[in-house]
Amino acid sequence: MTNKRVLSGIQPTGGIHLGNYLGAVQNWVRSQDEYDNIFCIVDLHAITVYQDPKILRKNIRELAGILFACGLDPQKCSLFVQSDVTEHTELTWILNCTTPIGWMKRMTQFKDKSDKQKEKSTMGLFDYPVLMAADILLYETDLVPVGEDQKQHVELTRDIAEKFNGTYGPTFKIPEPVIPKVGARVMGLDDPAKKMSKSEEKQGHAIFLLDEPDVIRKKIMRATTDSLTTIQFDESRAGIYNLLCIYQVLTGEGRDAIEKHFEGKGYGDFKKALAEVVIESLRPLQEKYQQIIADPHYVESLLKQGASKIRPIARRVVDAAKDRIGLGL
Ligand code: AMP
Ligand code: TRP
Repeated sequence: MTNKRVLSGIQPTGGIHLGNYLGAVQNWVRSQDEYDNIFCIVDLHAITVYQDPKILRKNIRELAGILFACGLDPQKCSLFVQSDVTEHTELTWILNCTTPIGWMKRMTQFKDKSDKQKEKSTMGLFDYPVLMAADILLYETDLVPVGEDQKQHVELTRDIAEKFNGTYGPTFKIPEPVIPKVGARVMGLDDPAKKMSKSEEKQGHAIFLLDEPDVIRKKIMRATTDSLTTIQFDESRAGIYNLLCIYQVLTGEGRDAIEKHFEGKGYGDFKKALAEVVIESLRPLQEKYQQIIADPHYVESLLKQGASKIRPIARRVVDAAKDRIGLGL
């Protein structure tokens, strides 16, 4: 029996933060032995909003370095850059032609992003979920581990695949989303009503994996809480609840044990303890990152090797889809 295949993607738009790590990357690393893993640095998704070319290029390499430092093992999984495997764009066009516009108009992430950009929103931004469907369907994926925010896109992928299969005959495997229970939605430190996000520019919003200890301490000590004092897992108190969840996933301790540990203590004490937990959790990863990027060609060669491993699967699936539709000679 072969292992189930897992595919996930991450955008190379700035450093990766604790939300990405806890909501996504940590689960990728943990599942390496159990699954056949494919991870994609989705640079084509990144350009759905303007990216400075020099910075994009730097971000792709930096992200790959961080992911290897987080524990992705090139022997066990394939990490590659999306635009390096041209089948992603090829399949996107094919899927565009079977996806009803009505389905696309329901995508809440597009609504949020395009509300911010108004007339400047691109066709690419609207089509973003179809490109994501192509990423997933190209590799006969069983499972797609993502944060809560991406669940709608994975459901759309299933609908697109089912519609195609219904119209042209069985071609694509139907994937399942996998959402982690805790850490699925890490909120911003400055505003716990908003998801922690790379695109939020305010200092103190997100903790990045390469942040120095002092920066981490400052961000956590300034994190928004409320005027109450008890340290309890109470979802209606969004700020402290978010910090407690981060503490919980990083330490692996149970909620009761954590509440007990901080009984009678104040927010300041808890925040200090949390800062140390975050710093110590990130320390090994930061050290490994420095070793990895010491040789700039190393990361590039691993990414190329990742693409060569998976390209034949993508080619086979696109050829099967073309054949079903009657495309080409
Ligand atoms: P992105 O930063 O949008 O490229 O997201 C990469 C991965 O991290 C996706 O699986 C997201 O669902 C996940 N993710 C992003 N932000 C958060 C967050 N604040 N909490 C949990 N997961 C997140
Ligand atoms: N859209 C995802 C995000 O912003 C990233 C992504 C692109 C992805 N392609 C994917 C995630 C395929 C899972 C599977 O988080």
